[in-house]
Amino acid sequence: MSTPSTAPATPTVPSTRSAPTASSPSPMPVRTPLPSALAGTTAVLVGGTSGIGLAAGVLLRTVGARVVLVGRDPGRLRAAAARLPGRASGDVLEVAGDGGDERVLAEAFDLAGEVDHVLVTAGGIAGAGPLAALTAEGIRTALDSRLQAAFAAARIAAARLPAGGSLTFSSGILVARPAPGMTAPLSAAGAVETLTKALAVELAPSRRRVNAVRFGRIDTPLWRSHPGMDSDAAIAAAGATHPLGRFGTPEEAASAALFLMANPYMTGQVLTLDGGETLA
Ligand SMILES: NC(=O)c1ccc[n+]([C@@H]2O[C@H](COP(=O)([O-])OP(=O)(O)OC[C@H]3O[C@@H](n4cnc5c(N)ncnc54)[C@H](OP(=O)(O)O)[C@@H]3O)[C@@H](O)[C@H]2O)c1
Repeated sequence: MSTPSTAPATPTVPSTRSAPTASSPSPMPVRTPLPSALAGTTAVLVGGTSGIGLAAGVLLRTVGARVVLVGRDPGRLRAAAARLPGRASGDVLEVAGDGGDERVLAEAFDLAGEVDHVLVTAGGIAGAGPLAALTAEGIRTALDSRLQAAFAAARIAAARLPAGGSLTFSSGILVARPAPGMTAPLSAAGAVETLTKALAVELAPSRRRVNAVRFGRIDTPLWRSHPGMDSDAAIAAAGATHPLGRFGTPEEAASAALFLMANPYMTGQVLTLDGGETLA
């Protein structure tokens, strides 16, 4: 019998839970690429306590996925978990800690039992400033703040994700259109994009996928922490210069991550979600 060329109508989850080996590759599971296929899967959200990561948690719960939120601030973690339906039934789990610490991610995997997808939205703009004003220590901190979480996620994904599982990273459009004073944070974000492609090639034989979303301006607490940007009016004014006339919403940003998680044929890609800003 030939392999079906179309996806099944009913959402299914990958049946292979054990970590596969590259030496005995099995076919990539074929299932519907719609986000509804994420029903019954489990996603670890590193940075899931705010902004895009939290919005991803809401969307994943909406489609029936279980989530494990990981964040450093215990208060923010509790508040985020309380916003998601399903905490009482064990469909929303929490791990407090730094996503750059592999033990924290291992705890998240252990707590969940089975994990199909990892989304990393941890990271900010540490180390911004003109290069001449940066110290060697400041540069190291800027690189570490994003790359440690990325590599910790990469290592746990490589060790523990099942066939059909996915890892999704975050980047930003300034990687393609740099602004002055951003050498350190953008170098780290660019490295994450390279890691995405290199790891995708490495994990493809064992049918695990790696992608990234390159975000434009998204209205999240991260943006609102910028000087003068802590009001709706300021966000609206800044968005007015945008091709589509506004910032993106966290839900719009998170839905790009769900697309990458759900589509079994997406790997090694950096998907831009910027409302056309890069073209303007
Ligand atoms: N918003 C935008 O316009 C935009 C544009 C381009 C790129 N991005 C990128 O998209 C990602 C998400 O941005 P966002 O706007 O959603 O940011 P956000 O609202 O600040 O949320 C980031 C989350 O990550 C957590 N976090 C940070 N460092 C962590 C670590 N080491 N370990 C575990 N959790 C950590 C934070 O909680 P704790 O501090 O409590 O840990 C917070 O919950 C970031 O990587 C950002 O650089 C955003």
